[in-house]
Amino acid sequence: MHTSAIAISISLLFSGALFISLWKSRSRRAKYRSLLPPGPNGLPWVGNVFDIDVSQPWVTYQEWGNRYGDLTYSQVLGKEYIIVNSEKVAHELLDQRSSIYSDRARVPSIELFDLGFVTPTLPYGEEWRKHRRALHLVLNKKEALKYTTMQLQRAHGLLMNLLTTPQDYEDHFVMFPVALIMELAYGYSVVPQGDPFVASLVQLLSLVIEVVTPERSALLGAFPFLAHIPSWMPGGNWKKRAGDCRRLVRKVLNDPVQYVHDSIIAGTARKSMVHDIYLDKDDDLKLGLDKDKVTKEVAATAFMAGSETTTSTMLVFLLAMVLHPDVQRKAQEEIDRVVGTDRLPDFDDRPSLPYVEAILLETLRWISVVPLGVPHMTTADDNYNGLRCYYSEYVDPERYPEPKVFNPDRYGSKLEDVASSPVFGFGRRLCPGRYLAEQSLWAVIVSMLATLQIGKATDASGNEIEIHPKFVGGITIRPEAFPCSIEARSSRTKQLIRTSTTSAD
Ligand code: HEM
Repeated sequence: MHTSAIAISISLLFSGALFISLWKSRSRRAKYRSLLPPGPNGLPWVGNVFDIDVSQPWVTYQEWGNRYGDLTYSQVLGKEYIIVNSEKVAHELLDQRSSIYSDRARVPSIELFDLGFVTPTLPYGEEWRKHRRALHLVLNKKEALKYTTMQLQRAHGLLMNLLTTPQDYEDHFVMFPVALIMELAYGYSVVPQGDPFVASLVQLLSLVIEVVTPERSALLGAFPFLAHIPSWMPGGNWKKRAGDCRRLVRKVLNDPVQYVHDSIIAGTARKSMVHDIYLDKDDDLKLGLDKDKVTKEVAATAFMAGSETTTSTMLVFLLAMVLHPDVQRKAQEEIDRVVGTDRLPDFDDRPSLPYVEAILLETLRWISVVPLGVPHMTTADDNYNGLRCYYSEYVDPERYPEPKVFNPDRYGSKLEDVASSPVFGFGRRLCPGRYLAEQSLWAVIVSMLATLQIGKATDASGNEIEIHPKFVGGITIRPEAFPCSIEARSSRTKQLIRTSTTSAD
């Protein structure tokens, strides 16, 4: 049977990558090669493995996009990919042909690490549909609007933390979505220091991000013996990490749901994703006997898919503000004009703050924190323009001139809908957390701009410390820690932060 794998990546938008991988017999492959797009010549069997910068494969894919066009053929360790560098083509394939472009490739490291329960890894089928129905129940556009008050309160708490210990900005950014999603998923209020649930979740996440990239997985798939090397032997690190990961997975799936069970029995349970799914007595979600399993899995998925992505985007925003004081100033002028200086902005102000909206759009576009997207796989043969390649423009110079430049003004008065941004993916696998995510980010961005002054840090002699941005990670990326200065814009905004946090307590 033929399967084609497709992975979409919109890094810096329009310079992303989409893969189609064709797993065929050698003779069939040879026949099909003539129908495949152009791509770099590889070595026998290992293919292009040495051509790819494994630590930042999206850079290689962008270069290939420049050279070969919208679709590039590549082969890595026996697996074949077509990388797509065009949002237009991605829409044509993943949206318009979504009935066959919605599966996921089997990733050996995901099984080894016991992560097959996470929604983004599930094959297209009934189990995945159950997950999506449960996620939709609490994350759909209308439902997400109910979280705005909580999101603003959390954003105000973040301001207070940034004011108190600005040097720990990365920790504060990590805790923002973690606390939000713990509350939303389990009705659980995170303890500020040393929360036991959070500790396991954060540990698990960092393992996953580091280990599960398509390229590293291809390596494991090509050398399955890596999974069997004892952990103390050279190369056996995989196994030790896999063991750690499996233990953490059990804790992350079971412990917080047990907390909800206990609070239901004690009569103290608060509204949450887990609680709402349990309340589905008539089984409108059609979860059947899988209800318990799906509940645990989607709640943990919300955390795993929603926290690092949100934190990383917040870091990208901070980086952009450090590098572009003019943008910050313009946004602050807009906020002061529309909101005044006697209160903090809220969601009612959103339509009147187009420049802040443009900053949010530009933050998501400038550095896509899921640079390779999540691979889609087709369930049937497909023919796209005969799978021949066409050297069309993959960066639309009229729509996004100089795509690497952070420039919110590029949107003019034509602001796009944030939740429709390609950074949230395509077709039936489109990110179900996009409404929650964009609201969280808006709350953070507007609150920080209204009250804080962000700038370059200075050294002991008072000279500004220059930043040379670097990005780290695996399947998601974030800016490497950079020095910066974060302080209240004025004594008035300091007081506003203090008052808003006290009233939220
Ligand atoms: C800035 C924040 C976020 C970004 C950039 C982001 C991006 C993405 C991307 C690129 C995908 C893959 C889409 C595809 O396959 O075409 C995805 C999938 C997913 N995201 Fe998000 N996401 C974010 C926040 C969230 C949040 C807050 C949640 C939940 C609370 C969430 C839950 C999910 C889930 C469950 C999937 C898997 C969908 C599936 O495979 O059917 N994400 N996200």
